[in-house]
Amino acid sequence: MERLQKIIANSGYCSRRKAEEFILAGKVKVDGEIVTTLGTKVSEKSVIEINGEVLTNEEKEYYLLNKPRGVITTTHDDKNRKTVIDLIETNKRIYPVGRLDYDTTGVLLLTNDGDFANMIMHPKNEIDKVYIAKLKGIISKEAIHTLEEGVLLDQEFVTASRVKVRKIDTKTNHSIVEMTIHEGKNHQVKRMFEQVGYLVDKLKRERIAFLTTEGLASGEYRKLSNKEISKLYVLANKK
Ligand code: URA
Repeated sequence: MERLQKIIANSGYCSRRKAEEFILAGKVKVDGEIVTTLGTKVSEKSVIEINGEVLTNEEKEYYLLNKPRGVITTTHDDKNRKTVIDLIETNKRIYPVGRLDYDTTGVLLLTNDGDFANMIMHPKNEIDKVYIAKLKGIISKEAIHTLEEGVLLDQEFVTASRVKVRKIDTKTNHSIVEMTIHEGKNHQVKRMFEQVGYLVDKLKRERIAFLTTEGLASGEYRKLSNKEISKLYVLANKK
């Protein structure tokens, strides 16, 4: 027996969070009966239907995309804007692991494996997400210290595990700052810098753990190798 939202996410139909939304909205049937209780334990042999479609187990796929600016990180958009899914050729129902803003570039993982997505995103696994931010103004030592000590976002303390100044340009009044975080709250990096008094002009995710965009032009992608996938699990299990 397994929790319903976990079985749905593992099938590759959608993320666990999306599965929870479908369950609460009454869109999920188990053996012909609508189930709206999250966490309902279901046998692997049960027939699960979502939006009238019977769930099947898909082969898992894992992609690394160098996300360009001007593309949204969702599976579909009501306003018909280009999404990150449009950039990847696959017949599998993949979805992004976490979110990058419309104007943020860099490393984005996509998969149809709910367990993998959770493993990457869960802060307890301490998988590094490394961002390079171009800030308006010259960042102060106090601001860096505060980011490392923690700032309040959504009534929760979030810390940067590392903040490093890459470049200060007094002529144009900009700073280039590297910041490593483990969570993935909405607009987290921009909001953390705002909390200490700096506006982010440009943002790029340079790295997730050891994965970078090396060899990929903007908008290009590649599959993760089995070795890379295992290495990520090893990193997560060490925490
Ligand atoms: N933090 C942000 O503010 N934006 C992103 O796109 C990612 C992290």
